[in-house]
Parts: sequence; C-alpha cells; structure tokens
Amino acid sequence: MRMYDIIMKKRNGGRLSTEEISFFISGYTREEIPDYQVSALMMAIYFQGLDEEETLALTMAMAHSGEMLDLSAIEGVKVDKHSTGGVGDKTSLALAPMAAACGIKVAKMSGRGLGHTGGTIDKLESFKGFSTAIPQEQFIRQVNGIGISIMGQTADLAPADKKLYALRDVTATVDSMSLIASSIMSKKLAAGADAIVLDVKTGSGAFMKTEEEALALAREMVKIGNGAGRHTIAVVSDMDQPLGRAVGNALEVKEAIDTLRGQGPADFVAPCLTLGSQMLIAGGKAQDTRQARDMLQQTIETGAALKKLAQFVQAQGGDPAAVYDPSLLPRAAYTEPIPAPADGYIRQIRCDEIGMCSLMLGGGRETKDSEIDLSVGLVLTAKVGDYVKNGEPLAYMHFNDPVKAAAARERFYQAYSFGADAGEKAPVLIHRILQES
Ligand code: URA
Repeated sequence: MRMYDIIMKKRNGGRLSTEEISFFISGYTREEIPDYQVSALMMAIYFQGLDEEETLALTMAMAHSGEMLDLSAIEGVKVDKHSTGGVGDKTSLALAPMAAACGIKVAKMSGRGLGHTGGTIDKLESFKGFSTAIPQEQFIRQVNGIGISIMGQTADLAPADKKLYALRDVTATVDSMSLIASSIMSKKLAAGADAIVLDVKTGSGAFMKTEEEALALAREMVKIGNGAGRHTIAVVSDMDQPLGRAVGNALEVKEAIDTLRGQGPADFVAPCLTLGSQMLIAGGKAQDTRQARDMLQQTIETGAALKKLAQFVQAQGGDPAAVYDPSLLPRAAYTEPIPAPADGYIRQIRCDEIGMCSLMLGGGRETKDSEIDLSVGLVLTAKVGDYVKNGEPLAYMHFNDPVKAAAARERFYQAYSFGADAGEKAPVLIHRILQES
C-alpha cells in the first residue's frame, strides 16, 4: 500500500477501505508517513468527506493507535463530558466540580485550544503548577479519592489523534464533520469512561455552523459511542455568540470560579445545568432533570463545588489559593475598554471572530509549537440584544502587546452588527438531547 494512492483515491472522491485507513493511521503514528502527505489527505477528506463506515474505521484506528485506558479500578459509573469546541466555552471548568460534588465520578480527558476555539487544558494551566500530564495511576486514584480528575491526552492515548489534531489546527482542516467526530470519539473511547455526555455546539463560533450540521455530528458521535458500548448522550447548544462574557484562558477560569460562587452569567449557567443534569442521570445520581438541576444548584449555594474545584486543582499540582482569590491567576499588563462606535442594539457578535481576536492577542496558537499567553483575552460587557450608547464599552481587552491589541481591536469591530431594534435573540440552548443507539 502507498500513501500516495490513498491520497489520490480520496482526492478523486473514492471510498477508503478499513485497511487503507489503518495503514495511514499506523504509519503516521509510527512517523513513517510525513506530515505533508497526511496534510494532503486531510484536505482531500475535508472536501470529499468520509461516509459512516469510513468514519467508524478512522475512529477505531485512532482509538487503538495507543493504549485503551482501563478504568475498572474506579468504583461506580465513570462519566466523561466533552464539548465540540467553542468560544468562551469554560463549561467543563465549572461543571466538572459541580458534578463531582454531587457524587459523580468525573473521569475526563481534555484537549488544548484548536483553531479559534479554546481548550480546557490550556485554561487549567492558568493555575500555577497545574498539570494534566498525570500518570494513569494518579488519574484512577484521584477519581476514586475526590471524584474528579482531568488529564491531557498522553503520548499513549489515541496518539494518532494527538498528531492529527495538531496538524489540522494549522492546515485549515478542522471543521470537517467526520474528522471532528472521529477525533473526539477516538479519545473518548480510549479514555475509558462508561458514559459520555457530548455538548455539540452550533453557530458562528462552532465548527458546525448550522443546527442541521450540529445534529448530524451529534447523531454520528452518539452512534459511534453507543456502538462501542458506551452510554452516549448529546446536547446541541448555541455558540452563535461567545458563551458567558469571558474569552481567554485565565479570564475564563475566573468566570468559572465566579459561577461556582453564584455569580455566573445566566447564559453560561444554563448549559452547565443542562449538561450537568445529563451527567447526573447517566451516573445514576438523579432520576430526572429537575432533581439533577436542584442538586447541581445546591453545590453552588453550599460552596461544595468551589471546594471541589480547589481540591481538584491541588490534587493536580496547582495552587488552590487562586480558586479563592482569582487575582492570583495570570494577569495581562493592560486592560482597555473597546467603545461602541454608535448608539444601537447589538444584533450579532460573530463568535469565531471574537475567538480570533483572543488568538491574535496571544491566547491561542498560530503554529503547532506556539506558546500561548494565558493572561490575554476579552471580557464582553454587552451581548446580543443589548442596547449600547456610542462610546460605552462593548468589551474590555486584556493584553500585553499593544501592536497585537491594535490588530485585534480592528478585527473585534468586524464581529459586531448593530440595529435600531433588538431583533430576535437566539436561544442559549437548543436543548436537543439525543440518546440514540
Ligand atoms: N475537538 C476535538 O477533540 N477534535 C476536533 O476535531 C474538534 C474538536
């Protein structure tokens, strides 16, 4: 078999066999196939797509490209949660401790930022000393002990996806349904949880721009998960404007902490409760969504979730003091308001553009090896449907480099549309819960 023939076959719209998919995945994992050939194949897949069988073959080949975690040493139902990626999506940071405080065994594997979207691991590294590169034994011990651990993708876990993920990030091949479905599900299957709650984002900040595409992706992933014997549930939620107000690593951590203190923005609390309810039901801790929501809300009211976050940060080597004093998180040298250019209602905030602004400030990666600046980003003070007066701040920009800030500010304005009336506000949650097998 030759990689050249596989690229050409897909470029010409052909169907790849399971053997061809296994060949390129194992060759790439062993570094026998170079990045440039895999980039070409990714672009061919981007344009030609993969059918259901090819996607399943790719998922399985990537899941088995490394170790499949055995979490049987953890008692109870192990629940993982995963978002397809968005802007300002710090859900896991608040939700994981909330669910753990309700007795759920949160055994979660997370990724880094991708394209214009942020990643949980980058965000967690805002806690000084925090590490997600933890050994499997620690992961298991921690979930057994305090009910929560989040680990990064180790070199041994779905290594093919790890390499492909980084490559796709810099070759404009992220937003392909089959590539996203196989990337996410390969990691989820390899990470070993019994139940998987998927948050499939739709809108301008999501990889899937329309509800139809998001639903198709949700169905595909649910089918893969259930087919592999994992209880898999998907929620489709809106990502047509940034979630909550903060965009940027440490800024989002602070917003998650505020949420656990009962001061979270409503449009962020809502998805936490919806997804959390699914986790509690899947983990057998609640009978229905009403009971689950009450339990989750109580973890905020009693401070149990905040305490759980501190425990979790400490267990993974981070400084828990920042949980109680977020001013200890990385802070940018400058904070400046971005004034509204005119009076009017905000009709649209192009979410991907806001994600790009954060990336341009240094909060995301331009190349595979870029170092990111955890302190930079934006905090929006007005959202879609709000009225602003000329000169009032639309957002505060946190930055360290004035040259980058000037470019990001220009891009920021392009993300906004204003109107004479509020228009129709998109629902925060599309609330479609799929549980198909
Ligand atoms: N998240 C992933 O893990 N993979 C993708 O391809 C996109 C989002």
